[in-house]
Amino acid sequence: MTVPYLALDEADLAGKTLIMRVDFNSPVEEVGDDLVLRDTTRIDDHLHTSVMPLFELPKPPRNIVLLAHQGRPGRDDCTTLLPHFVYCRDKLRSKGIETAYVWEGSGSAAVRQLGEEAVASADVLARIRSLPERTVLLLENVRFSEAESNVKGNQPAAFADTPLIRMLAEVNNRVVALDGFSVGHRAQASVVGLAALGPLHAGPVVMREIEQLSQALESPKAPMLLIVGGAKVDDSLSSMQVFLEQGKADTVLTGGLVGLVLLQAQGIQLNEQTETNIAAVTRDLSQTLAKARALMDSFGGNKIRVPVDIALGPQLASAAQRAELTVNRIDPHDPRHIGDIGLQTIAQYACDIAQANTLVMNGPMGRYEWPCFTRGNEEILRYAAYAAQARNAHVLVGGGDTGASLGALSAELVGQVNVCSSGKAFLEVLATGTVESLIGVRMLARR
Ligand code: 3PG
Repeated sequence: MTVPYLALDEADLAGKTLIMRVDFNSPVEEVGDDLVLRDTTRIDDHLHTSVMPLFELPKPPRNIVLLAHQGRPGRDDCTTLLPHFVYCRDKLRSKGIETAYVWEGSGSAAVRQLGEEAVASADVLARIRSLPERTVLLLENVRFSEAESNVKGNQPAAFADTPLIRMLAEVNNRVVALDGFSVGHRAQASVVGLAALGPLHAGPVVMREIEQLSQALESPKAPMLLIVGGAKVDDSLSSMQVFLEQGKADTVLTGGLVGLVLLQAQGIQLNEQTETNIAAVTRDLSQTLAKARALMDSFGGNKIRVPVDIALGPQLASAAQRAELTVNRIDPHDPRHIGDIGLQTIAQYACDIAQANTLVMNGPMGRYEWPCFTRGNEEILRYAAYAAQARNAHVLVGGGDTGASLGALSAELVGQVNVCSSGKAFLEVLATGTVESLIGVRMLARR
């Protein structure tokens, strides 16, 4: 599929500094004084799809400056990129590529305190200018800079007038690229502002994800199945609406909190604990339920499948503590968590998957990270991968949790599915039906 954006492999990179926005945002955990990465899928993807191949080109860039974020300001996961740097350094060194990080040797707390200066300053610029050849410099978490997301108005010029972009404008002989499709929805300096530094090229990860999504959205092989789960209920209902109203999807399978909201909208009594969870993830519960009801009224009979049974278990329960119930037997006072679709639902969904030629899946079927609730998600992914393997169905799996949730499948099966590691960006595209709904994509230079 040809897309109209200027790809990075069309750029003259020889001897240049490539400034590239990637998405290294990963689950992190503090273990004693150390920050530990809990999943490296996104980082691996960038290293193997972009960074390493770029240095293998006959005319490679001189060096690469990577812009990335971790977490959201105000949350515990908004940490330094030190663990990401250490991970990249070890991986890249085996390929003869050196990695640099301005704040190596400084403690995380000290770097955090530098705030803006940690990201953009005369010192950082000096480091970029003195980078040796065949070196990747990872800048500090761009969200340490308040200006990253606090730009007034939505004009590209305003994003360009931020410390990070002003600093990068001082780097000569540069090429710029966006390679984080999953940050494409963010009107932020490190995404939108980059376009002020030269034609914004689509990096290999962005290109791959645009091509996969465009293929699924513009020329899907029928029948097309949309599978939605997870906790982003409002966005998921919007994507269902677009897919069904525009006749893109023949059938929609639902799980996670999305499936439970559709049950609730049909008058099925859930337990209090689940209703509280649903209320916490919706913007306005009554509106959400009204939207869910309208969808079921219009398409419920033959196009939208909802769970016929669910799995329950106590907090962090083991697989042995899994219990199953048909949905009309849920006790509102049951203190356990409803965390998965049940076996009857899995069997019914498997029949739909076996007929589909295009499958787009976003969001897990349940709380797959708890041992008692892994089953639904794992089996649905497995059936989808079989459909790709046996019948060459086009399978596209998206969502921020994708990497971790695919972990249970064999490498051979994972190899059958196309993976888009974007969460909100993927949903936004599904909800509008076009990749152009992402501001980052609209900033890309055209051929
Ligand atoms: C993601 O995890 O989906 C991306 O890294 C974007 O993160 P954000 O939603 O915090 O901008």
